[in-house]
Amino acid sequence: MRVRLENVHVAYSGSRKPAIRNVTLRFDRGIYAIVGPNGAGKTTLLETILGLLKPLEGEAYLLGVNTKSRRIFEVRRRCSYVPQDFMKPPTESLTAMDVIKLGLIFKEEGFERAMELAKELRARDLLEKPFGKLSGGQQQKIIIIRALARNLEVLLMDEPFSSLDAESKRTLCDILGDFRDKLVIVVSHDEAVEEVADGVVRMEGGEIVDIS
Ligand SMILES: Nc1ncnc2c1ncn2[C@@H]1O[C@H](COP(=O)(O)OP(=O)(O)O)[C@@H](O)[C@H]1O
Ligand SMILES: [Mg+2]
Repeated sequence: MRVRLENVHVAYSGSRKPAIRNVTLRFDRGIYAIVGPNGAGKTTLLETILGLLKPLEGEAYLLGVNTKSRRIFEVRRRCSYVPQDFMKPPTESLTAMDVIKLGLIFKEEGFERAMELAKELRARDLLEKPFGKLSGGQQQKIIIIRALARNLEVLLMDEPFSSLDAESKRTLCDILGDFRDKLVIVVSHDEAVEEVADGVVRMEGGEIVDIS
């Protein structure tokens, strides 16, 4: 199992109420959508999977490694994470292409994949532009292209399509379909994601209320 959570509770410091409770999940390969209202615990769940947050009770394993172990740093490198709030105010004039290249581990292979993805997503003309001058949706596209081009074993994305137009969402969901031999976990309310997903996990008030 690439991701295994056993009866996990997570609370933020200073808060008595756990942000997620009693969560047991096993994911090996395929595409999974996490859905639920604001505050349901979706972001907390992704960060717990990555070991950025540690369980107060229960155990979480990523690629076979307990997230409380020091080896979590090694296995986290085999994962891509697109956080909900990646868009920091631009401080540099990096081009979109620079931003993509910075995230690539296998440079040449990744670069070719990034170019193909940019073509499919009609983002080729964005690549030479300063990243900071792109619109929110265009930045989101670049960050997703980078995450997909990394082509790692585990891909976690937190509401990655929130600023994208309908056509880009559909194209991306089609592309996600090619990642079924990996593990892809997407927090999203988009129907297109639910359609391509092998499973949908619904959260409410920190708990899993439905898996379908
Ligand atoms: N940094 C934080 N400090 C304290 N409480 C937090 C923090 N982040 C989230 N929470 C709380 O944890 C719960 C789950 O939040 P979150 O995982 O962000 O939900 P979602 O991503 O589903 O909107 C909420 O009640 C939220 O207020
Ligand atoms: Mg969230």
